[in-house]
Amino acid sequence: SPEDDLRNKMREALELSAKLFHHVLLQTDYGQHARHYLEKRKITIEAIREFQIGFAPSSYDFLLSFLKGRQMNEEVMEKAGLIVKKETQSRHRYFDRFRGRIMFPLHDAQGRIVGFGGRLIDSGQPKYLNSPETVLFHKSNHLFNIHRARPFIRKDDQVILFEGYMDVISAWQAGIRTSIATQGTSLTSDHIKVIKRNTKNVYLCFDSDHAGRTASDRGIELLKNESCTVKVASVPVDMDPDDYIRRFGATSFREEILGGALSVTAYQLETLKKNYALEDSDDRMQYLNEAITIISELPVAIEQDHYIRKLSEEFRISLDAMKEELRKKKKQKH
Ligand code: GTP
Ligand code: MN
Ligand code: MN
Ligand code: MN
Ligand code: MN
Repeated sequence: SPEDDLRNKMREALELSAKLFHHVLLQTDYGQHARHYLEKRKITIEAIREFQIGFAPSSYDFLLSFLKGRQMNEEVMEKAGLIVKKETQSRHRYFDRFRGRIMFPLHDAQGRIVGFGGRLIDSGQPKYLNSPETVLFHKSNHLFNIHRARPFIRKDDQVILFEGYMDVISAWQAGIRTSIATQGTSLTSDHIKVIKRNTKNVYLCFDSDHAGRTASDRGIELLKNESCTVKVASVPVDMDPDDYIRRFGATSFREEILGGALSVTAYQLETLKKNYALEDSDDRMQYLNEAITIISELPVAIEQDHYIRKLSEEFRISLDAMKEELRKKKKQKH
């Protein structure tokens, strides 16, 4: 059908573009600055090859001319999100969408390229420019690296969900094969559908900044409602997983961050704690009160028992007193 023809041509244009950008990055002078940048970020040549990372030069028609030379038409390129129509009327009606950016090909679950994420090397806005919505690329269900990670996710029956491409690539360099990322912080129910085809066990490992924490909280709710088992793996404040791996190494990330991942309840209790000065007895009592509220909302009695015991040990308060408070809370709710 004509639709299939168009899709096939779009795919061809996307594949050719990825090859071109990758070649430019590794083999040409245009790519030099980008190569140095990636080197500085400790992205290895193996990762550059595996992820087919590339570079789009700062030109308005570098890709356009190349693809034209390969007999691709502009309509296909535009539909694939590779070029943009000029607003003003002039001789050249189209220009390259990605200019002066490090290019990350984005694949569908079958491993076909559907779009790109492009990062500026230096500061500037937007830091990342992604492909627009096309018939092949939908931001709301796209999971970066899903095609590579899928067999490992199934084998290990768990997935690590990051915010960014760089986190996935760093994790890959650290030997972690089960990681995927959304385009930033917004996890949708469509993403979760794709995840659940492969596993229900999700490690959330978002950035430890305000946006990341807010997104984590939202993600936890969404994933719980979809009956996934969530663990929260947190990196220290104001870092992201890629920063952490670069600074402390792969082993530490595995052992401390993934190994130290918390259940949702433990994470909520830890987060709550940060609002209180626990050396102050009033604050401590308020914290305990709120903590017991969280525990009282757990659906399973065994879980309630587990956390109430931990709290009682941590604050050296008798288990009987804690259980009494828990009973009161549960009564209040009915
Ligand atoms: P680095 O700064 O290269 O380490 O990237 P990062 O992955 O740490 O970026 P950040 O935590 O700021 O954002 C996470 C993800 O959100 C990125 O991988 C992008 O997919 C997306 N993102 C970040 N900035 C932008 C932006 O300016 N525009 C768009 N559309 N997406 C962005
Ligand atoms: Mn060099
Ligand atoms: Mn972030
Ligand atoms: Mn980040
Ligand atoms: Mn980062």
